[in-house]
Amino acid sequence: MRVDAVTLFPAMIDSPLSESIVGRARTEGFLELGFANPRDFTEDRHRTVDDKPYGGGTGMVMMAEPVYRALKQLRKKGSFVILLTPKGRRFDQSVALELSKKKHLVFICGHYEGIDERVTPLADLELSIGDYVLTGGEPAAVAVIDAVTRLIPGVLRKSDATVNETFTDGLLEAPHYTRPAVWRGKTVPPELVSGNHKLIAAWRSKLAAELTGKARPDLKPPQQVKKKSRGKAAH
Ligand code: ADE
Repeated sequence: MRVDAVTLFPAMIDSPLSESIVGRARTEGFLELGFANPRDFTEDRHRTVDDKPYGGGTGMVMMAEPVYRALKQLRKKGSFVILLTPKGRRFDQSVALELSKKKHLVFICGHYEGIDERVTPLADLELSIGDYVLTGGEPAAVAVIDAVTRLIPGVLRKSDATVNETFTDGLLEAPHYTRPAVWRGKTVPPELVSGNHKLIAAWRSKLAAELTGKARPDLKPPQQVKKKSRGKAAH
């Protein structure tokens, strides 16, 4: 997958996404990451990218033209353009899954008080990572790109690593344990060391349901989709 970002601060995205699993995904060619900096698309001596807001108010607003030109350089036929903003649709695992199927994502990261509103129609999707205000869209882009990259087939070595995980089935995941079996007097649930796969699966389902009910009662497991019966009784 190719991902590009329009940003005044490419290092804020490039650096964290050079480490660990996403860093490896980049060196192995699963993810190609590029940038366009609106500052490189200015024409004045000071390379101005922001100005005071019309109508007054505090802070500066990113000007539309340098952002437009940077986006124009990156956008190809079939690109999916995402504007990061606290006003956008809330990002979650289902959005990550949708985005992981796209060929080319382009993120537009605002900074300061945001971007001139006239840029908004250039985006296919406005996206927020939560109800809080960041210094800019860059940390949000890192979170979204990270969550999307790990869903690209081949990025996680164990192919089923994303199948049973938190949120995929609408529930939080059951707790994990590793060696030693007794740590500072605390033991591991006996089901997990039983070697009985059915028992382990049942324990995990039970714990996942209990944990979700306690910690995130707002999360509802997806409804079972019943097959439409065609006259005969469904089995
Ligand atoms: N820019 C500033 N805050 C943001 C947020 N919560 N999500 C996405 N982009 C942002």
